[in-house]
Amino acid sequence: MDFSSLNEIAKFIVSDGKGILAADESNPTCAKRFDTISVESTEKNRRDYRELLFRAPGMANNIGGVILFDETIRQKTDDGLHLIEVIKQQGALPGIKVDKGLVAFNESNIEKVTNGIDDLDQRCQEYAKLGAFFTKWRAVLNIGEQLPSQDCIDANMSLLAKYASIVQKNNMVPMVEPEVLMDGDHSIEDCYDATSKCLESLFYFLSEAGVDISGTILKPNMVTSGNSAETQASIDEVAGATVECLKSYVPDELPAITFLSGGQSEIDATAHLNAMNKISNYPWRLSFSYGRALQAGTLKAWKGKAENVKDAQLAFSHRAFMNKKASLGLWSVDLEI
Ligand code: 13P
Repeated sequence: MDFSSLNEIAKFIVSDGKGILAADESNPTCAKRFDTISVESTEKNRRDYRELLFRAPGMANNIGGVILFDETIRQKTDDGLHLIEVIKQQGALPGIKVDKGLVAFNESNIEKVTNGIDDLDQRCQEYAKLGAFFTKWRAVLNIGEQLPSQDCIDANMSLLAKYASIVQKNNMVPMVEPEVLMDGDHSIEDCYDATSKCLESLFYFLSEAGVDISGTILKPNMVTSGNSAETQASIDEVAGATVECLKSYVPDELPAITFLSGGQSEIDATAHLNAMNKISNYPWRLSFSYGRALQAGTLKAWKGKAENVKDAQLAFSHRAFMNKKASLGLWSVDLEI
């Protein structure tokens, strides 16, 4: 797989409606997911689970990139094949989560800033050698009383810009993820407002840092109601508000926007993406980079048992195909049966 520019890599990942599998859960997050199916989070179980995903027939044609955690990029199958080779055999590019999680922002007990910038250059050099084509850095913002604060937004977005420029220097595509959390009872308007502020600040700092936007992928939240709000915005309202917000702040040269699912159900995440792609064509590709919304059914089918691997792979393959359809605006609920 030879590419002559970062733009080519980004475009390849989302070519023909393909999207990204986010399989970069840190070990504690993986343990939380495995808890739901009563599976112990050992290194072997994590490897077996990821291998199941990467070998699923539906990886090919539907998934153009996979985000890995540090442990996974170094793991091998029982017959000695690196997991990143399995991914490449399926026609997808391996990527790597490079942030080191969240710490308190200015001693706040709610607001957070992302850790890991200090030794990032060094780590990127190693990841590029290990075979990563792209990277991910996640910033997290909360909606609440007077939140997110502009100071916290700017601190996070300037770090995202610093991160992106270090990654590009190491010849990988930075995926920038400013996640406004769904947690809370806020309205869709509150989410629109917070997401707008983040995107405006993000593209200001990316431009200040001289980041090549044509070699960058944006991984945003959708504009939704809070998950405990009494009134939930409809699928079409979410699609309309998200697209409106993106059109206001995202430059045309950005090749790809790949959404996070953020706790949405599998069907909602697919339906929202489909509705956006039905509205019109955009200068950027609108696709997916889902974690939970690609894996929930797979985990449930697997339950940590070898005899369930085939069924779990069928569940994953179906979900990946449904999301590819959605990123082409060709999904409908009757395809789900
Ligand atoms: P979810 O789709 O589960 O939100 O995960 C995507 C991700 O990579 C979060 O950083």
